[in-house]
Amino acid sequence: MVKTPLTAELRTLWQMARGAGRGASHAERLERFYRPQARHYDRFREKLLHGRRELVQLLDPPEGAVVIELGAGTGRNAEYFGERLLDFHHVELVDLCPSLLGEARRRWALQPRVRVIEADAVTYRPQQPADCVYLSYALTMMPAWRAALDNALAMLKPGGLLGIVDFGLPRGDCVADRCACAFWRRWFAHDGVHLDRAHVDTLQQLTETRVLHESTAALPYLPGLRVPYYIHVGRKPLAGDSGR
Ligand SMILES: C[S@@+](CC[C@H](N)C(=O)[O-])C[C@H]1O[C@@H](n2cnc3c(N)ncnc32)[C@H](O)[C@@H]1O
Repeated sequence: MVKTPLTAELRTLWQMARGAGRGASHAERLERFYRPQARHYDRFREKLLHGRRELVQLLDPPEGAVVIELGAGTGRNAEYFGERLLDFHHVELVDLCPSLLGEARRRWALQPRVRVIEADAVTYRPQQPADCVYLSYALTMMPAWRAALDNALAMLKPGGLLGIVDFGLPRGDCVADRCACAFWRRWFAHDGVHLDRAHVDTLQQLTETRVLHESTAALPYLPGLRVPYYIHVGRKPLAGDSGR
């Protein structure tokens, strides 16, 4: 069947309404969820995943840098580096989901500086230490998120940057904030996305915070609703730095 943008979008919405499902391994659940929407993943996520371009611009890796995205999906975010990417040593796009990686391979087939790798963010180790590691809307989809963060830091050179953009939770403690937290937690858990305030707190403990930007953004097809998200950029402490 030839898909128009609208039918593709409806299919994505249907898949999200069905949810991530249970059983099977984490990798199998991801594949089951994303396979039907992989070809049209980017179109819908442009409207849903805010702050990705801003994160990539904040990272600004130096010439010759090794750059790694964990949970890179279709490899869309590396496009935000623009021509700067040509000055990097290389970029590694790591993900567990074969269907989304297929899109990334198609996208980057003609760019030898970009390597597309099927691996778990929790255990993957690059051959060279990285100058910059980032995750975009991936931490909330990783059940072992703390292990993934530890692994991301282990890949980084001392002084390297760890960047995250992801859905967050309201920080206030009033009744409205508590209700909003409960609502967003439930809403996202249906699609295997687990919101946790501990994400930002842990990033602040593990790295020297350079940027913490918390905001809200519109959701496609849901006028009036605004979802919380954050951008955090932290520096891996140098050996000998104290207090971490
Ligand atoms: C919401 S998507 C975001 C994709 C991409 N970063 C973006 O901004 O469009 C979350 C991604 O995390 C990946 N993912 C989840 N758990 C993972 C893990 N343990 N290791 C590697 N990738 C994982 C999923 O396969 C999916 O591609």
